[in-house]
Amino acid sequence: MRRVAVVGVGSSKFGRRDDSNLSELAFESVKPAMDDAGVDGKDIGFVSVGTVGTWYEEPLPAVAVAEYAGLNPAGLVRCEAACASGSAAFKVAFQSVASGESEVAMAIGVEKMTEIDMPTTIELIGRAGNYLWEFENIGMTFAGYYALYASAHMARYGTTEEHLAQVAVKNHKYGAMNPYAHFQSEITLQQALDSPFVAWPLRLYNCCPVSDGSATVIVASEQAAKKLTDTPIWVKSVGTASDTSNLSKRPDYLGLRATIQAAKQAYEKAAVSPTDIDVAEVHDCFTIAEILAYEDLGFCEKGTGGRLVEDEETYIGGRIPVNLDGGLKAKGHPLGATGCMMIAEVTRQLRGEAGKRQAPIKNGLGLAHNVGGTGHYCYVTILGRQ
Ligand SMILES: CC(C)(COP(=O)(O)OP(=O)(O)OC[C@H]1O[C@@H](n2cnc3c(N)ncnc32)[C@H](O)[C@@H]1OP(=O)(O)O)[C@@H](O)C(=O)NCCC(=O)NCCS
Repeated sequence: MRRVAVVGVGSSKFGRRDDSNLSELAFESVKPAMDDAGVDGKDIGFVSVGTVGTWYEEPLPAVAVAEYAGLNPAGLVRCEAACASGSAAFKVAFQSVASGESEVAMAIGVEKMTEIDMPTTIELIGRAGNYLWEFENIGMTFAGYYALYASAHMARYGTTEEHLAQVAVKNHKYGAMNPYAHFQSEITLQQALDSPFVAWPLRLYNCCPVSDGSATVIVASEQAAKKLTDTPIWVKSVGTASDTSNLSKRPDYLGLRATIQAAKQAYEKAAVSPTDIDVAEVHDCFTIAEILAYEDLGFCEKGTGGRLVEDEETYIGGRIPVNLDGGLKAKGHPLGATGCMMIAEVTRQLRGEAGKRQAPIKNGLGLAHNVGGTGHYCYVTILGRQ
């Protein structure tokens, strides 16, 4: 396998985007990524598009997006891994270059979820839990699934509603500094604790919003990267794992096995440990998910994730700053775009380009953790300056 570097990143504004169609929304991140890398369409050898795409009538979103962006005749594939579709697309682009099949490849993550009404959106996401048993029989929603994890964690480890709210307060604080974020306003702990219940113990401010958006990452071989940029950010490793969709087959609701396995692979392949990571993006679709991620990624002991955020260890200046772009909670969660946006943010942090949101970088290592479903899929990507 060859060494591969991230050489260009781009993002669209996340939020409700009635002003653009799917292809225009994707191009909003493709263009800045190409400008960042100093390439154009003819330089791209392979394109992977991460999108779930249940919400629009376009049956072949990758085709529409690539044609509009002028990327033909590059090889093209659409990747689906639920909320981790962007990371799956990144992995495919990375492998295309690592294997020697292409010199420069592009991963585009895009989703336009607000094409349909909210109840239908929530139903379609719920179907992606476990369709036959848990959706058809019980009517599970994603807030309902993560509420199971939250209540189990509260009962076993004494995690509190305040801990859940503290994740939201932190992520809104950083979202307020991110011009691409869906929500760019700070909130108080009391506001989070007073917001209406969606599925106990999860309230409105414990949930990510439904968003539209795109993000693009361009990767290149070592030889190509050295010609294109002075600040290549190297792909140290990508760990991936999956788990049952059927929650009755999981041993407990205290953590995500797919995260633990994907993280183990990623750390081993990169030959680093959790304490080496300077900055992380983790999958906080619901605030409990961020607390589970702290523990499953090894940033703290099992059961102490609530205390980690309470002690502000995941803020800038803390032991391991997490979700400095606002996370899914404030930045938004256009499913297919999220994984590419996480990798774009870690790249900006490692380049020292994050402005007010910049974490101190000591070891030159950043991590992106992207979950699909309730841990059906997981991707952990480690990037480094060296
Ligand atoms: C939380 C949720 C139920 C809110 O739905 P809703 O109340 O119908 O949302 P609406 O779009 O009608 O917005 C109502 C208000 O709440 C705000 N809002 C919506 N979602 C919000 C969120 N997650 N956090 C804070 N505010 C939110 C809106 O801005 C709006 O405010 P306004 O009245 O001042 O304009 C919905 O966003 C949701 O299901 N989120 C989870 C999505 C999901 O499961 N994704 C996959 C995860 S793996």
